[in-house]
Amino acid sequence: MNGKASREGPGRVRSTRTPGPRPVPLSSPWPSQRNDAPPDHQEIAITASDPVPPREDGTPSAGTATSAVELRGITKRFPGVVANHDINLTVRSGTVHALMGENGAGKSTLMKILYGMQKPDEGTIAINGEPCEFNTPGDAISRGIGMVHQHFMLADNLTVWENVVLGGEKLHGIGAKAKAKIKEISDQYGLGVRPDALVEDLGVADRQRVEILKVLYRGAKILILDEPTAVLVPQEVDALFDNLRELKSEGVTVIFISHKLHEVLAVADAISVIRRGTTVGDADPKAVTARQLAEMMVGAELPSPESRESTVTTTEMLDVKDLRIAKTDAEGIERVVLDDISLRIHKGEILGIAGVEGNGQAELVEAIMGMLPLDGGTVTLDGKDLSGSLTRARREAGIGYIPEDRHKHGLLLEAPLWENRILGHVTEAPNSKGVLLDPGAARKDTWRIVEAYDVRTPGIEVTAASLSGGNQQKLIIGREMSHQPKLLIAAHPTRGVDVGAQAQIWEHIRVAQRAGLAVLLISADLDELIGLSDTIRVIYRGRLVADADPATVTAEDLGTAMTGAASGHLESDAEAVEHFHEILAEGTEAESDAGPTDTADDPQAGE
Ligand SMILES: Nc1ncnc2c1ncn2[C@@H]1O[C@H](COP(=O)(O)OP(=O)(O)OP(=O)(O)O)[C@@H](O)[C@H]1O
Ligand SMILES: [Mg+2]
Repeated sequence: MNGKASREGPGRVRSTRTPGPRPVPLSSPWPSQRNDAPPDHQEIAITASDPVPPREDGTPSAGTATSAVELRGITKRFPGVVANHDINLTVRSGTVHALMGENGAGKSTLMKILYGMQKPDEGTIAINGEPCEFNTPGDAISRGIGMVHQHFMLADNLTVWENVVLGGEKLHGIGAKAKAKIKEISDQYGLGVRPDALVEDLGVADRQRVEILKVLYRGAKILILDEPTAVLVPQEVDALFDNLRELKSEGVTVIFISHKLHEVLAVADAISVIRRGTTVGDADPKAVTARQLAEMMVGAELPSPESRESTVTTTEMLDVKDLRIAKTDAEGIERVVLDDISLRIHKGEILGIAGVEGNGQAELVEAIMGMLPLDGGTVTLDGKDLSGSLTRARREAGIGYIPEDRHKHGLLLEAPLWENRILGHVTEAPNSKGVLLDPGAARKDTWRIVEAYDVRTPGIEVTAASLSGGNQQKLIIGREMSHQPKLLIAAHPTRGVDVGAQAQIWEHIRVAQRAGLAVLLISADLDELIGLSDTIRVIYRGRLVADADPATVTAEDLGTAMTGAASGHLESDAEAVEHFHEILAEGTEAESDAGPTDTADDPQAGE
């Protein structure tokens, strides 16, 4: 994801093209009228030398005694969808194993099956060589499996140690022994967790470490992390990877899901790729490039944010002046969360906000959306003062909103897709005519969004909860772009979407930008921030402390300012910038740092 990770990427590239046919799912998991089939038989099937193939009869083969996990022939059907079809996965003990694949490929479903949250329709699970059947997560936990979900599940108003012990009281009690155990685990794996801190005071990276600790506390030796890096900034990703290496050296096996190719290459010992519910193949991180991985996943080339003509005009669209918000915490102490914030966005301009999560970004967005009362300052859109307006009025005035937490603010999870299409836009066409809702038109328009934004779903009557994470995100973006907003507030717009969908979303935003859309972009993905923005400002502890020109700044320098270690106008050294842009443009010529490659760094090779 960041330049650093990619520079640490593989030095040598070798790929062997295996000509054999790849498994084809019996039924496609989405409507057949859609012509979105990947270019079959063109992928580079890269097989790692390590995983031992199963025997013909599907039982684990001899020589897999060291396999922590063996999944064989896993099939899972949902109404209208085959989420997993005949999936095989071997994970060796004490390794970090990455699971990759496009949105809706079936990764989370497979991991929920391994964690006992869902029962497979067919297939077998073996843990450390022993066949197992899991009916509940409790069964999986008792076999040493733990899972950290993408949406954290901690109780905010409790302390770290209370959260860790909650539900596991029988293990080490609830007193000094439990606290000592937490300290011990934290030290053993270098997690640096403070048992007495309140969870609500922790940033995302710390919360994630608490989740990991909670799972280890229950004795997990096999750790599943579903998109752990999506919410982290580069420095935090590096720290997480250090933790994972530590865990590995202590004999823990880690399976993690990620869409970030460079990260996977930097930390994984093995990679398995799933496409359309079935295993496409394994890749050796030492012998594959990010570009080849992207092709395996989505059957398309890796997108790279390209430099382009500026569309920035001189017409002001958003004017935020002297914004101030203070919050009073439980002890009655006032904390200033936004201080003296002034910014302007013109028609056709994308203003990117860089910052470590929890430095005021959420409050800035909520202040502009009218979800938080201001203690000072004004918000003006297209010449109209909205400072006192309700959220709905602001939306009707032309603000589109892609929220940070799609489950909390973006979707009604238990409602069908077409009702979700109406959400937040009840009074606007095509959802309503005059004062009456028009469900027929809303349904029709939902289909349009599904097509245009490639939302993989068997229909529009299914609930939002049944969509995969990335597809939920695509639906929200489609909806928010559908009302020709004047201003789009986009918080992590491509969080959790695969590289192919990411490129499509970027393109949708750029097309609208050319037509005059102003965008406030908040993103933890610094490549996205640098690639899309016309201007970047850095937020730190509620203040805008630095600014940078995306054409002349690197992810590292931005990262430094985000931690408060630099301020003012950021200038990166020219060589670093050039190198960074090379990496962006090439997708993955990480090998350029590490000497010559032997073969097949050309993605076309062997096709
Ligand atoms: N509870 C459910 N009910 C119905 N369909 C489901 C359910 N859970 C998953 N699916 C479907 O199964 C398929 C696989 O979903 P899954 O969440 O495993 O994808 P994923 O690979 O994790 O994708 P992403 O990268 O977007 O998170 C999708 O088509 C999804 O719509
Ligand atoms: Mg998922």
